[in-house]
This record gives sequence, C-alpha cells and structure tokens, in this order.
Amino acid sequence: MTPAERQRRQRRQRRTALAVGLAATVVLAASLVGRAPADAQGDLVAKGRQLYLQGCVSCHGRDGEGVGRGSETRGPSLTMAGEAGAYYQLSTGRMPLNDPDQEPHRSEPAYDAAAIRALTAYVASLGEGPDLPVVALSGADLAEGGATFRSNCQACHSATGAGGALSYGRAAPSLGAAEREDIAAAVRAGPGQMPVFSPKTIDRRELRDLVAYVRYLRSPRDRGGLPIGRVGPVPEGFVAWSVGIVLLLACVYWIGTRSPIRRRRPGGHDDGVATTAGVSEQ
Ligand code: HEC
Ligand code: HEC
Repeated sequence: MTPAERQRRQRRQRRTALAVGLAATVVLAASLVGRAPADAQGDLVAKGRQLYLQGCVSCHGRDGEGVGRGSETRGPSLTMAGEAGAYYQLSTGRMPLNDPDQEPHRSEPAYDAAAIRALTAYVASLGEGPDLPVVALSGADLAEGGATFRSNCQACHSATGAGGALSYGRAAPSLGAAEREDIAAAVRAGPGQMPVFSPKTIDRRELRDLVAYVRYLRSPRDRGGLPIGRVGPVPEGFVAWSVGIVLLLACVYWIGTRSPIRRRRPGGHDDGVATTAGVSEQ
C-alpha cells in the first residue's frame, strides 16, 4: 500500500465512523424526542390513577364508570368529563366531595397543582371529554369579550358577574374568584346547569377575549358614579327610591311645619272649623 493509498483509506474510515456516530446520535435523539412526552404522559396518568383510587373511587367507581343509579347515585360517570371537567372540579375545590348529597361549591383546592395535573390527565384518559384550552391573554379585546359575555353568560351570572339565582335548580356562582383556567374550563366543560360552549360556539379567539373580560369584571371602572356593591339595577333603583322617599318626606314635613294652620294652633283655634276658617281668612 502506498502512503497515498493509506491516507485515503484512513480518511474513508474516519468518514464512516463519523457517519455512524452521527446516525446513532440522530436515532437516539429521535427516540428521546418521540418517546419522552408519551412516557411522561403515561407516568402522569399512572400517578393520577393512584390518587384517584385513594380519593375518588368510592363515588366514581374503579374506572370512572360512576357509582349507583337514580336517587342512589354516589357519583356520576366521568368518561365524558374530560380534561376541562376534571380541572374545573379540582381547581375550584369542588371535588372531592365529603358526602354525595352535598352540593359542590367553590372552596380551597384539596390537591396541589402537580396532583391536579395528574388527576386531570387520568380523568381525561377515560374518554373523549373536552380538552382544557390554553388561554394567552395578550392582544385580548375587552369590547369583543363583553359582547360574548352579554350574549352567552349574563343571563345566569348577571351583567357584573356577581352571579344570581336560576329559576330552576341551583344558583349561578359569582365569577369574582375564577382564575383564567377556571373560566376556560367552565366554558368548555359546562358544569352542573351551565351549558357546554364548544369551539363552534365560542372559538379560541372569542374565548381569549371572554376570559379577559370576566377577569376585568373583578375591578371595572365605575363611570356612572358609586358602584353600590355592583349588585345591579334593581337594588340600585331601590337605593335611589329609599333616598328619594326620605327627601320627599323631609320636604312634606318642612312645608307642613311652615304652614299657617300649624302656626295658628297655639292661639287656641284648635278645632277643625277654626282651622278651616284660618285658611279661608288668607
Ligand atoms: C363523596 C362522593 C364523591 C367523591 C369522593 C368525589 N366525587 Fe366527584 N362527583 C360527586 C358527585 C355527587 C358529583 C355530581 C356533582 C353535581 O351534582 O354537580 C360529582 C361530579 C364530578 C365531576 C363532574 C362530572 C361531570 O361530567 O360533570 C368530576 C370531573 C368529578 N366529580 C371528579 C372527581 C374527582 C377527580 C374526585 C377525586 C379527587 C372526586 N370527583 C371525588 C361525588 C364525589
Ligand atoms: C344557564 C346558566 C348559565 C350560563 C348561561 C352560564 N353559566 Fe357559568 N355557571 C352556571 C352554574 C349553575 C355554575 C355552577 C356549576 C357547578 O359547579 O355546579 C356555573 C359556574 C361557572 C364558573 C365557575 C365559577 C367559580 O369560580 O366557581 C365560571 C367561571 C362560569 N360559570 C363562567 C361562565 C361563562 C364565561 C359563561 C358564558 C360563556 C357562563 N358561565 C354561562 C350557570 C351558567
């Protein structure tokens, strides 16, 4: 072998080694990228199932199929609750209930954020329920959000988001404590008597504007004067009415005490005839 040949062969060998190394790296990276999220998701679901078996199984069954039927129901099936439904119930502290007959309402969450993520992933894996939308508020349009709110939410939650009684069943709660994800989850999940709003009714952009508007309702600018607790037009009217009546009574009293009839009384013309006479004298 001539030195030139040897050099060429060495170069070829080096190139082959480099190519093999590169290929191995690519394969390794691809397998990491491809498998890591799936594995992480699998781990999360497994962790969620563990928590589920401790805290939820007694009312929702071993695989989320629900327990009991009719008036004997301990808990409904979770197969259609989805990521949004589970997140809503857990992040607003409604689940786990202590007693199946208790009415769920907002309270301190029983689980921390990591446990909520795991439980949510597990419940989502049970069926084809709605996903929890990711909402970024940058560029949100408050006016658009207000319009969506008035046409879809105001009837139950009131114009100020203070909530209100429903003509059937339970009251719609105040929106004052709802965080961004809670609002998005409620919209997609439609908990209790609230309707489900799918992306067909309220699309991603509308949802972003709506969430921004609901958050804005917590501290709106009061351009009309005193907010009076922002309880709405009927109690506001009542306040105006009460203040008005008191002013009116004060006026009547003032006019009454200044009238000649009252001023003449100490003079002895106490009876009705004399008083009438007193008036006719004027
Ligand atoms: C004591 C019984 C009980 C326990 C424990 C319980 N739940 Fe519930 N769950 C209920 C009842 C009852 C409802 C229906 C509530 C209603 O009337 O709105 C419900 C509703 C739900 C819903 C909404 C279902 C839907 O489709 O709207 C989800 C999601 C849920 N529970 C998840 C959980 C999770 C997760 C846990 C465990 C951390 C849990 N629950 C623990 C009784 C229970
Ligand atoms: C038919 C009446 C109704 C309509 C319309 C309605 N909701 Fe609700 N909403 C409810 C009821 C009832 C609940 C309580 C559900 C439960 O957890 O049992 C609720 C709960 C919520 C919550 C959770 C509040 C909390 O922090 O506890 C949010 C957020 C919410 N609704 C937002 C909205 C938005 C946004 C709209 C409009 C797109 C809307 N709702 C339309 C009745 C309604």
